[in-house]
Amino acid sequence: MNAKRKIIIDCDPGIDDALALMLALCSPEVEILGITVVCGNVPTEKGAENALKVLQWMDRLDIPVYLGEERPLVRNYVDAMDTHGEDGLGESHYPYVTTVRPRAGAVKFLADSLLTAAASKEKLSIIALGPLTNLARLVQQSPESLDGLDQLVSMGGSYKSHGNCSPVAEYNYWCDPHGAKVVYNAFYTLPQLSGKEIHMIGLDVTRQIVLTPNLLEYMCRLNPERGEIIRRITGFYMDFHWAQEGIIGCVINDPLAVAYFLAPSLCTGFSSYTDVETEGISLGQTLVDAYGFWGRHPNSHILTETNPVSFMEMFCSRVLKGSEKALHPMLCQLMGGCEK
Ligand code: BDR
Ligand code: CA
Repeated sequence: MNAKRKIIIDCDPGIDDALALMLALCSPEVEILGITVVCGNVPTEKGAENALKVLQWMDRLDIPVYLGEERPLVRNYVDAMDTHGEDGLGESHYPYVTTVRPRAGAVKFLADSLLTAAASKEKLSIIALGPLTNLARLVQQSPESLDGLDQLVSMGGSYKSHGNCSPVAEYNYWCDPHGAKVVYNAFYTLPQLSGKEIHMIGLDVTRQIVLTPNLLEYMCRLNPERGEIIRRITGFYMDFHWAQEGIIGCVINDPLAVAYFLAPSLCTGFSSYTDVETEGISLGQTLVDAYGFWGRHPNSHILTETNPVSFMEMFCSRVLKGSEKALHPMLCQLMGGCEK
């Protein structure tokens, strides 16, 4: 068997972050060195408590959780508790973990882990599920450590899809547009990242991943204990989607970033130079230069298509332990059919 790929998950849990963590924790191909938390959906400390709750559900409290940046690089911090609830987990109010506490120093942990990876030649990947503030600080404070980076997958931005914070902006990049710009810029300019691209899992693909009440019911039948956790944390999120977008169900963005890292064929897209707007009414918009107007080499790989049934198969087989053979026909039925 191939060696496990080492990863750090940088996140802001967050309901869909929690689902993404569950998927990663059920995936034998990866070794999660740590979870770093950034301010986003909820303030950093609350996000770290939520990461610990997820680790407790999954019996993996051995994985360290690190506190990261408490505010965006330049902008005032705007949380997303209207979407994720006061506790950030859909007002499920699971008890706090008391046996383990979050550690300080997410950016230092990222830098040290990358430097170790660079020295050992066993590179390290980062899956970023929140605003890119921690990673922007990493670029500013320890650019040499990026030599140890294998792949960066970032849930954020959009190419042709409308935004979820403004007509054009997605929350993670809107929350800290300057942070996102620093990271995209680093992938254009830094020699140690030469030839590398940020894998951008934006709203174009994540909007296709909708957890409907039927799918949720199926998950509860497959695995009553984990299904119940998912039911308890997503009810608030479903109500929000109904009020905001007229959707029955909820878009679960972050788990697709993990799924894509595990199985890149789940999404397809193209390479492009991308920049992030930091001012005015388009604040946080990703400007994807798909047609090469600026003549710049690519710093990003923009994912535009995905296969929602294959994603759900992966999620249900791993997190809910559903039998792979039975899943496919059932998911085809629940998700509106598959090609014969
Ligand atoms: C992103 O913003 C957050 O609310 C979600 O956790 C996800 O990372 C979607 O725009
Ligand atoms: Ca998130």
